[in-house]
Formats: sequence, C-alpha cells, structure tokens
Amino acid sequence: MTVRIEPMPLQGPLFEGALDVYAEAFAGAPYFDDDRGQEVRMRLLGEHGRRPGFKAIVAMDGDEVVGMTYAYSSAPGQWWHDEVRKRIPANAYRRWLVRSLEVVEVAVAPSRQGEGIGTLLVESLVAGRDEHTAVLSARCDSRAHELYRRLGFEELARVVFSTGGAPFYIMGRQLPPRGEDAGG
Ligand SMILES: CC(C)(COP(=O)(O)OP(=O)(O)OC[C@H]1O[C@@H](n2cnc3c(N)ncnc32)[C@H](O)[C@@H]1OP(=O)(O)O)[C@@H](O)C(=O)NCCC(=O)NCCS
Repeated sequence: MTVRIEPMPLQGPLFEGALDVYAEAFAGAPYFDDDRGQEVRMRLLGEHGRRPGFKAIVAMDGDEVVGMTYAYSSAPGQWWHDEVRKRIPANAYRRWLVRSLEVVEVAVAPSRQGEGIGTLLVESLVAGRDEHTAVLSARCDSRAHELYRRLGFEELARVVFSTGGAPFYIMGRQLPPRGEDAGG
C-alpha cells in the first residue's frame, strides 16, 4: 500500500478532501446521512478543533485524500463524555474515560475501504499519546466495530444516546505508556 499519513490542516485542499471523503463515507449504509459533511466542517472549525489534545490526520495516495480521522482528549463538559458517563458504572468510567483520547470520526473513501487504510489511520492517531485509553462509539449495525475489535478495542457498553436513534457500542482500548509504542 502506497498510502501515507499527513496532518490535516483546518483549511485548504487537504481539509476539503477530508470532508469530501467523510461525506461520501457517511452517505452510504447504514448512515444514509447527506448532511454529515457540513456538520463535521462546523464542528472542526468550531469547538472540536480547539479542544485540548486535538489531532487530525489524513491518509493520502499521491495527492488524493483517501481517508481521515480526528481525536481529542475526552473531558467532563463535553457532550459525548457526559453522555457516556451517565450510561456506564462509576468504576468503568474511572478506568476508561478518565485520561482518555476520544476517537471522534474515522472515514475512508468507499472505493478504498477494506485495504487497511482505516487500520493505518486509527493506529497513527492513537500512537504516542499521553492518555491512558482510547475510546469511541460505533453504531451496532455498522461494520466499523469489527475493525475496532480487531484493533484491540473492547465493548464497554451498548447505549442509545439522549438524541435517540440507533444503538451504539462504546468501545475502549488501553494505550501503552508514552515511549513504549512505535509511533510519535
Ligand atoms: C469503518 C472504516 C473507517 C474502516 O476503514 P477501512 O479502510 O475499510 O478498514 P480496514 O481496511 O483497515 O479494515 C477492514 C476491516 O474493517 C471492517 N470494515 C468496516 N466497514 C468496512 C467496509 N465498508 N469495507 C470493508 N471492511 C470494513 C471489517 O472488519 C474489515 O475487516 P475484514 O477485512 O477482516 O472484513 C470504513 O469502512 C468507513 O469509512 N466506513 C464508513 C464510515 C464509518 O463507518 N466510520 C466509522 C464510524 S464509527
């Protein structure tokens, strides 16, 4: 695979390419969501892009963006963090959400899925972090959780968020102490 990882700036062609990939990935099953690209643009340019520990990367093949992902440090007061906190036992909260990295979005261009690009993106995103765990949510009816399971994430809970809609798995993975992994 000739795909490489680069930082994602919050403007310019790589940013626009990442949003195009994201919109395309979520336009299909099981999401069928045509507005997600706009939503994610607003979030990245708004609060998400300014959160502590924010990191966004793209997967590039030549000068084409073929995947994107971003994360930040999860903390009380953030919608997702507080929603999950209410739905898991206190000991699970302490183990998994305190000092955690929230993997917020992952998307690979539909024509390039199944080639290992999602794996490369997630491993690059979580490498070399200070947080103790990486956490995320994945729709129970999507295939994404199969990928996360293979990457060492375990299912912590099955939840429906207060906004309603489809159930999600909350998943978590321990991260090695900084300096013990290969990434940077
Ligand atoms: C989930 C996603 C990021 C995975 O990226 P990817 O590059 O296809 O993943 P990889 O090639 O590294 O790994 C493939 C594994 O991911 C899982 N997978 C999830 N969706 C898949 C898809 N549409 N095509 C192929 N594999 C998929 C499978 O477990 C697969 O393993 P297998 O090859 O043993 O069956 C990508 O399919 C995608 O963008 N999907 C739509 C958006 C989405 O669901 N994002 C995650 C939200 S939590």
